[in-house]
Amino acid sequence: MADGKTNMKSIETLQNEHNAVLYVLDSLEPALTAAEQGVPVPVDIFTDVGRFFSIFVEQCHNGKEEAAVFARMPASTSGDALVRQLEHEHENGKRLSAAYNDAVGQYTPGNAASAAEVARTAREYGAALRDHIEEENTGLFTSMQESLAADDEEMTAEFDRIEIEEIGEGVHEEIHAMIDSLPPRIKPWADQAKVEA
Ligand SMILES: [Fe+2]
Ligand SMILES: [Fe+2]
Repeated sequence: MADGKTNMKSIETLQNEHNAVLYVLDSLEPALTAAEQGVPVPVDIFTDVGRFFSIFVEQCHNGKEEAAVFARMPASTSGDALVRQLEHEHENGKRLSAAYNDAVGQYTPGNAASAAEVARTAREYGAALRDHIEEENTGLFTSMQESLAADDEEMTAEFDRIEIEEIGEGVHEEIHAMIDSLPPRIKPWADQAKVEA
């Protein structure tokens, strides 16, 4: 699974979502660096990322994994033990995401001290997400191929249902548009940081 190739649609969907999370984390980093230097990065960049964490990551993506994948993993397999750990990491992620949203709530553009807290909490959650994604891309996907190949269609149908019922098509589209908008919105502020550094 390390090569990213699979014939399971469910794995492909989760992998694409992991890539979207990594893309947002990479896009956000220059905004954090700029804000830490006192560049007045607008708050909506950080609140949009907070909304992405809450809706896309926690509600939609983690919801799919928990309801459609984790719940199906047969007990007494190594996959089941891994699932317990991944569930714990989802819980921990909610705490880290809440800390980030709190920091964004206290953030004032141009105020380096408030920006430092946004950057700290974003990087803490980001590091946890990167580790978690790495474990899922290797361990979880291997277990899915070993134990859940026959359930691929059912899992995929459940993913679609969760996406429509929990998130709604409009919000899904809106979040993808937001993801694409991040680099061009961040660039002018990141450029100021380079000049000041
Ligand atoms: Fe997960
Ligand atoms: Fe995941």
